[in-house]
Amino acid sequence: MRPTALITGASSGIGKAFAKYYAEAGFDLVLVGRDIDQLTLVSEEVIAAGASCEICVADLSESDGVASVLGVCPEPDVVVANAGVTIAGRVGTREWADLEQMSYLLGVGVAQLLEGLVPAMTQRGSGDILIVSSIASLITMPNSAMYAASKSFVTAYGQSLAAETERFGIRVCVLCPGYVHTNLHERAGLAHLEKQVPGWMWISSDTVVQAGMKGLRRNKVVVVPGRVYRAVRPFMNSHAAQRLWRQLTKRH
Ligand SMILES: NC(=O)c1ccc[n+]([C@@H]2O[C@H](COP(=O)([O-])OP(=O)(O)OC[C@H]3O[C@@H](n4cnc5c(N)ncnc54)[C@H](OP(=O)(O)O)[C@@H]3O)[C@@H](O)[C@H]2O)c1
Repeated sequence: MRPTALITGASSGIGKAFAKYYAEAGFDLVLVGRDIDQLTLVSEEVIAAGASCEICVADLSESDGVASVLGVCPEPDVVVANAGVTIAGRVGTREWADLEQMSYLLGVGVAQLLEGLVPAMTQRGSGDILIVSSIASLITMPNSAMYAASKSFVTAYGQSLAAETERFGIRVCVLCPGYVHTNLHERAGLAHLEKQVPGWMWISSDTVVQAGMKGLRRNKVVVVPGRVYRAVRPFMNSHAAQRLWRQLTKRH
């Protein structure tokens, strides 16, 4: 029996990189997202790598969407909770409904998914959980307060989950990447960041995947991928670092 990896947000970016990684590692896959065409393209790639693959089209910004994923894949060996969007704008300038949906997708929806999946892992005595959070949960992010707050929710959730489930053989790794080359910023109308944020601050989706694997192997619960980010992490909350961060990453 091949093990199964459930990956949310698998139609592009970091989720797609996780899908390829797990297919090559001998897993069968359940790929979740909303865009069936993109999911089909990814599924063709992972099938070519030898995996069986099921597509689950679901909107994870709604409780019903998360419930449908739990129905399709109730007992995966690995779960990568990765799906996400970002919304930028000063506090009070964006539609509350949009912020609420994003917050559900990034925060409570991830908890709903894991609350549904962890009991089977606990009973089995094994399971790997990767939560793709963000560096926004570790540093202030003006003009993206709800995004930062939602990511802080999953970082905190993952840390407590790890402490609670370690004795049942479950490994939890919360990834907190900085800037990753994906579709995320362009989709959010933040394409300017690709030119504005210096090249050395960008990492690839594969770097995020490798950091996650290393984190799981070494039992590191909160992992900041990328050499530069790791080097500055101890100083990240200093006044000077925060000022430089805001200048380099200013969101319009
Ligand atoms: N890129 C970065 O710089 C960066 C930095 C830190 C953290 N992150 C986090 O990394 C994760 C992956 O993002 P990415 O950078 O790889 O961006 P991406 O290329 O835009 O991928 C986002 C994925 O999430 C899925 N998704 C979005 N809304 C969804 C919804 N309502 N229901 C189900 N799936 C949904 C998308 O699929 P569909 O379009 O098919 O729905 C897509 O597969 C996110 O949680 C993001 O916050 C990214």
